Amino acid sequence: MAALRALLSLGMCLCAGSITTAEDLSVPRAENLRWISLDFKTVLTWTTKPSEHTYTVLYAVDDGDWTETLDCIEISDPECDMTNVLQPVNRAYSADIQTNAAEHGYAYDDDEQPHTYSSHFNPYRESNISAVRFTLQPFNESTVTINISDTLTAIHERGKQLTIRDVFHSDLKYKITYYKAGSTGKREVISASSVAEVSKLDAGEEYCFIVAAFISSRPKETQHGGWSTQQCAQIPGVLQGLSLGALVGIIFIIITVLIVSIIVAVLCCNCCRQGSKSLQTAQTSAPI
Ligand SMILES: *[C@@H]1O[C@H](CO)[C@@H](O)[C@H](O)[C@H]1NC(C)=O
Ligand SMILES: *[C@@H]1O[C@H](CO)[C@@H](O)[C@H](O)[C@H]1NC(C)=O
Ligand SMILES: *[C@@H]1O[C@H](CO)[C@@H](O)[C@H](O)[C@H]1NC(C)=O
Repeated sequence: MAALRALLSLGMCLCAGSITTAEDLSVPRAENLRWISLDFKTVLTWTTKPSEHTYTVLYAVDDGDWTETLDCIEISDPECDMTNVLQPVNRAYSADIQTNAAEHGYAYDDDEQPHTYSSHFNPYRESNISAVRFTLQPFNESTVTINISDTLTAIHERGKQLTIRDVFHSDLKYKITYYKAGSTGKREVISASSVAEVSKLDAGEEYCFIVAAFISSRPKETQHGGWSTQQCAQIPGVLQGLSLGALVGIIFIIITVLIVSIIVAVLCCNCCRQGSKSLQTAQTSAPI
């Protein structure tokens, strides 16, 4: 009986224990913090248990002082658009997501404030770059010109929306991968400029190209932007290189030469025949 009582009280203790733990956990903290960033539009997201609590996001630059993110004070959606606070872009930012007290007017002391720190995030090094667009123009029998549009970013400066070239300057290069249609060998060139020339192509063959932004100063995992869709072009052959006018000209000359030689041949023959005839006449008309 005593053993049973002990067991019961132990059970009650455990229950009480688990109730206090449950109460501690009932203030929901932000979990699974993630930076999602494309072309410098950067959103911090998190998950949380459903509750009446709201969240306030603070940020710090290079581990400096915490500042409130003006757009994300006492918000209930588990995400905060940080695009406008993460500037200048080439810095290490961190965020702190605080859970606000559910009862109005109650404020936590600094040391009991439930909150979660994010990892560091540097937009210049980590923002994903989307796939680029380009146009392809055969230039001559061995060269094509590739004109790449620098993608627009979410950053505005003095009323102008910046491109990735405005942000990365000479750190931005483009990687061009291409192959001859029907062959498996791929070749690759890196262009420092947004207008690139690919040379040493074979005349009269078809080539296909894909392009991606390539930021050489970044860590390996984030160096490449998205790959463009593929575009193919026929490299002009020796004859294709000539204009239609030139082709017509050449054909015209060949035909003229042919006609002239036929006429000359016919005239010559007639001449010869007439010449021998008149000789014969002269002979026969000669007095015997
Ligand atoms: C960049 O894209 C990769 C692949 O889709 C993804 O795993 C990563 O989380 C993205 N990074 C950011 C900062 O959005
Ligand atoms: C094609 O143009 C490139 C670049 O101007 C030049 O280097 C190359 O010699 C040209 N090739 C031919 C066959 O004209
Ligand atoms: C490249 O394309 C842009 C527009 O897409 C155009 O303004 C520019 O003149 C082109 N550059 C060359 C060298 O073709």
